[in-house]
Amino acid sequence: SIQPVILAGGTGTRLWPLSRELYPKQVIRLLDDLSLLQATLERVALLPGVLPPVIVVGEEHRFLVKNQVEELGTFPRYHLLLESAGRNTAPAVCGAALYGRQHVGDDAVLLVLPADHLVTRPEAFVKAVTRAEVLARDGYLTTFGIVPERPETGYGYIARGQGSRVEKFVEKPDLETAKEYVASGRYFWNSGMFAFTIETLVQEMERYAPQIVESMKEAVARGTSDGVFFRFASEQMARCPSDSIDYALMEKTDRAAMVEADMGWSDIGSWQTLYEVSDKDDRGNVLHGDVVAEDVENCLIRAEDTLVAALGLRDTMILETADAVLVAPLERSQDVKKIVERLKKEG
Ligand code: GDD
Ligand code: MG
Repeated sequence: SIQPVILAGGTGTRLWPLSRELYPKQVIRLLDDLSLLQATLERVALLPGVLPPVIVVGEEHRFLVKNQVEELGTFPRYHLLLESAGRNTAPAVCGAALYGRQHVGDDAVLLVLPADHLVTRPEAFVKAVTRAEVLARDGYLTTFGIVPERPETGYGYIARGQGSRVEKFVEKPDLETAKEYVASGRYFWNSGMFAFTIETLVQEMERYAPQIVESMKEAVARGTSDGVFFRFASEQMARCPSDSIDYALMEKTDRAAMVEADMGWSDIGSWQTLYEVSDKDDRGNVLHGDVVAEDVENCLIRAEDTLVAALGLRDTMILETADAVLVAPLERSQDVKKIVERLKKEG
């Protein structure tokens, strides 16, 4: 059976002003009615015999996440694991595995999923996971490869070797290298999803990141549960080195495998990606909420709190919320983080 581990830490500054420190990307209702976290849970529920999900989240987001899980109602049982301070994905995954061994049993295959991705073909997701489960049972750290569309430097790259084996895993290469990889046709994007048994994960982590395993063993052993939330012991967690599973493990292991997954995957990293993956009206607009648009084309406009009217606009985004409005060319989506940085600096 599959034990989902959903990583729901992190904030996503490029989706400001909808994303905030206390209201991260994965809980915004970016889809029609659902947040990306809720859509992830719905997708996971399609897996036959799936176990109650383990969700790893920062202490400060616990009620937001709990409310969204309960509002959706797909999983009446779930585990919420809280981090007092996030140490990136390697400790989060390792902590979930060690918690799983203690509280769930160690024969399940862990399916690690970021809470903030979009998958438009859930049937293909289910198929890929079914294949990955077999590889995971054979002792592989299994990745899900996506055919790359552009030389994106924010992703991991996977070169496929013999059969399902991974020959090489490179996390966030520079632009030059990413261009070579895409041109070669041999590389896939790492989707950020993984499947492995608890045993394989812990063995490989002990080999390549022993300090993380040691700290997280303590953090789980001394962790506390109040019946709703499980809290990793904060002192032990604070001592844990901070690293991503991609750098700490995937670049180093020789037990990696890959299944190719053509599942309509995207990482909603910016407003432009959201625009690209959304259904558009006949003028190429994505309009959400109370919006009146006249002579407007290829725009993304969201009204959260008041009426937004637009006239004579092209290729522009307007994101309106109760206390902030962003207006910019859609193609400047990556620079939204500059605004967030400025706001932080200027308080
Ligand atoms: N609980 C918890 N704690 N979750 C975390 C933490 C943490 O400390 N840090 C990150 N996460 C969550 C994020 O919210 C996200 O859902 C997921 O883990 C991945 O982390 P990101 O920080 O978004 O990683 P990335 O996008 O830079 O890179 C990863 O994803 C790419 C695909 O989107 C890598 O796996 C890349 O190789 C991959 O291509
Ligand atoms: Mg990401």
